[in-house]
Amino acid sequence: MKEKLTEKFRELYGEGGDIRAYFAPGRVNLIGEHTDYNGGHVFPCALTIGTYGIARMREDRKLRFYSVNFDTMGVIETGLDELLPSEAAGWTNYPKGVMWAFEERGYKLSHGLDLLIWGDIPNGSGLSSSASLEVLTGLILKDMYGFDVSMTEIALIGQYSENNFNGCNCGIMDQFASAMGKKDNAIFLDTNTLAYEYAPVVLTDARIVITNSKVKHSLVDSAYNDRRRESEEALMELKKVTDIKTLGDLTEQDFERYQSAIGDETRRRRAKHAVYENRRTIRAVEALRSGDIELFGRLMNESHLSQRDDYEVSCKEIDLLVELAWEVPGVIGSRITGGGFGGCTVSIVKRDAVDTFIETLGSGYRKQTGCEAEFYVVDIGDGAHRFRETVTKE
Ligand code: GLA
Repeated sequence: MKEKLTEKFRELYGEGGDIRAYFAPGRVNLIGEHTDYNGGHVFPCALTIGTYGIARMREDRKLRFYSVNFDTMGVIETGLDELLPSEAAGWTNYPKGVMWAFEERGYKLSHGLDLLIWGDIPNGSGLSSSASLEVLTGLILKDMYGFDVSMTEIALIGQYSENNFNGCNCGIMDQFASAMGKKDNAIFLDTNTLAYEYAPVVLTDARIVITNSKVKHSLVDSAYNDRRRESEEALMELKKVTDIKTLGDLTEQDFERYQSAIGDETRRRRAKHAVYENRRTIRAVEALRSGDIELFGRLMNESHLSQRDDYEVSCKEIDLLVELAWEVPGVIGSRITGGGFGGCTVSIVKRDAVDTFIETLGSGYRKQTGCEAEFYVVDIGDGAHRFRETVTKE
């Protein structure tokens, strides 16, 4: 693919110079949802799908962007002195946001760039196409300008740009997974300290199957930001009765003991999810490490119920997919994954049940919604990287 993209790059922007190729993956979160901005744990893994970027430094301060996915927009020209978000800028708000965030942190960009990108993450699926584009941009800047930034810092810069340039108050999970992913491993990340460990995902006779509902309810970002605010308000109330910094500091027992300090029933359920989901994630990783996949699956199912009933980030299409999955023999666990309000489910399915799974969910979903779900039997890939071999042609 990158050869074809390089060819396209030359066709658009001309020959010569130091042309480099990069990749940053999307992610799927196995468990630990809406815990990353609540000081809890998450357990995502990088996918082998993601965003590719071909880049070359310019002599001047111009920026030229082109996306194969949005080819009708053509080449979009702007400059390093115009790093402001705008609706008209479409997808380029993501790379521009990262450039802006680098500058905010004192990494001054001396020259502009020509950039071509292409991604194979289905649009709006909640598999972090935007985070992958942010991390890709961060890596390109690090590598091309020689900035001394770690991959963790690139993840943080990506999150900062999404929060402050693109208006979504997301946590660190997506950017971290894209920057730090490791083949065949999930990342057990403590979002409170950013301490992390890789955990091999050994499913022996099972596979990870992502089901795309292809629905994306409007107001996703604002509903997400609302959840975040509600959790923060509940934390403030709890802080009056116990000495904690985040909801991730509480055990289930602590929560039950102090929950009456939260003055509102909705906020109580939001906080309950954050606390219980964090503990579930810790237990799920232990289960996986000790080879107890069945327990891992049960915890995934509990995670779904908690997001459906307490955190209320599911929707009827996603609930349908999960309920259909739970009925299929050979399904170890199934839940909503990602930010919610549509997007995808993640399921662990016995290898010999995958075909039945796809058939059953596909036809059940079609019958009840009139829509076609999409299925991806995925592998866990590496985090963002540059392709080793040079693609320069004189
Ligand atoms: C989105 C956000 C993440 C995380 C998840 C929910 O993907 O970008 O930071 O909060 O939702 O777990």
